[in-house]
Amino acid sequence: MATTSTRTPAKTSKPATSTKRATATRTKHDAATQLLMDDHAKVKKLFKQFEKLKSKGTASAKAEIVNQACSELTVHTQVEEQLFYPAVKAALGKDADMIDEAVVEHASCKELIAQLEAMSPEDDLYDAKFTVLSEFIEHHVEEEETELFPKVRKIKALDLEDLGARMKALKTSLTAAAGTRH
Ligand SMILES: [Fe+2]
Ligand SMILES: [Fe+2]
Repeated sequence: MATTSTRTPAKTSKPATSTKRATATRTKHDAATQLLMDDHAKVKKLFKQFEKLKSKGTASAKAEIVNQACSELTVHTQVEEQLFYPAVKAALGKDADMIDEAVVEHASCKELIAQLEAMSPEDDLYDAKFTVLSEFIEHHVEEEETELFPKVRKIKALDLEDLGARMKALKTSLTAAAGTRH
């Protein structure tokens, strides 16, 4: 077979849209992790508010913050477990140990949330239980944001634009369902 050295001239001018598209993709690429990080920030703020109330706040003021944090965390963990973690686990393949560990950590947090929801804010261990929950969550969130999310953002096969949109929709319906239960 004759080898031919005829090469098509290199295309030097890329379509003007390619740069734009790359930028847009990068922005959307962070949609899923950004949604989770916004949740993390909201819950951390509630932890700080609780710390301030700890010594001189009323039981009802503390309970309001605890209930709000527990509701936020319940929705957040469901969004992660139903959509984010499975998608990331499938994409990570053999590197998915950290997802299994995250699910186990969620289970411990859910246990504390269930105990808190069954307690009265006047109970002796109420403050301590919420403090331990906040420490668990701070640790868990730190691992997600510094180890897991940077890894996730590098997975080219993962459509984080679509995943982020589905997570947002699930969060909206879970939040609405939780609102109607209270
Ligand atoms: Fe998590
Ligand atoms: Fe999270």
